[in-house]
Amino acid sequence: MKTPVPEYLLEIRDACSMGDDGQLADYIPELAAVDPDRFAVAACTLDGVVYTAGDADAKFTIQSMSKPFIYALALRDRGIRRVLEKVGVEPSGDAFNEISLEPETGRPENPMINIGAITTHTLVGPLDATEIERDTAVQEGLSAFAGRPLDVDITVLDSELRTAFRNRAMANLVRAGGIIDGDPDEAVRGYTRQCAYTVTVRDLAVMAVTLATGGVNPVTRERVVSDEVARQVLAVMATCGMYDAAGDWMSTVGIPAKSGVSGGILGALPAQVGLGVFSPRLDAHGHSVEGVRAFERMSRDLDLHLM
Ligand code: DON
Repeated sequence: MKTPVPEYLLEIRDACSMGDDGQLADYIPELAAVDPDRFAVAACTLDGVVYTAGDADAKFTIQSMSKPFIYALALRDRGIRRVLEKVGVEPSGDAFNEISLEPETGRPENPMINIGAITTHTLVGPLDATEIERDTAVQEGLSAFAGRPLDVDITVLDSELRTAFRNRAMANLVRAGGIIDGDPDEAVRGYTRQCAYTVTVRDLAVMAVTLATGGVNPVTRERVVSDEVARQVLAVMATCGMYDAAGDWMSTVGIPAKSGVSGGILGALPAQVGLGVFSPRLDAHGHSVEGVRAFERMSRDLDLHLM
């Protein structure tokens, strides 16, 4: 690439932040209160150098972008075989909040949709962990991926907990089906808390590159998960991370990725780069409109498509 990275990211900001379409998420009331015109982009190299452009200090909640990392922690803590007994790896083809359970096994189809992520949340931490122990394992694990201590936005957490009727229903379904143990309300509280950690695009890029390196955070040099776990997570992000737009995303962008309703998207290109974008207006799938645009453009310009 001839243009230096910082200038290139400014070009991305100018070309992709048009503020024209998409809607703020409003089923979590607090998310409807953010400035819709924000845009930020970040890239982290394999040796831990981070480049940013736009509103790079803007904080937002991680939401569904926590799911691949919680899946990674569950795989680390329980092993791949045990986690596979509880959650599948097939794309559901449905929206992130659908009741996508495999008819034969009762398992959620994959860990990237809400019902699967509520399940993987319960598999993090020591066996028979208390709620506080599990929350601590989540906080430490997400922070290790980010390379700095992350905090929960209590206002967003409370806001979502007041309206989490659908997630509560799904937690009760997997509890009734014997997929999760313990109190389903506790699972929803913990899962909702996991979604309410605040991050910046810089964090997204570092978290993503930690999967792209095979589990080592290149900023702190800490091994967070094994190579095998990182590969499993990247594979599931590639097939399921963008929900019912996963095929479209893989054909046009070609980077394992995960989005969140706060307007972030992170992408992890194995052995190459971690990318993060933030812009709050969403499309019908719950993906950031400008974030998708930025990823399409970076994939094309920089030849990042996996195929
Ligand atoms: O459970 C929920 O609905 C939210 N906490 C997260 C959903 C989400 O981010 C979907 N992604 N685009």
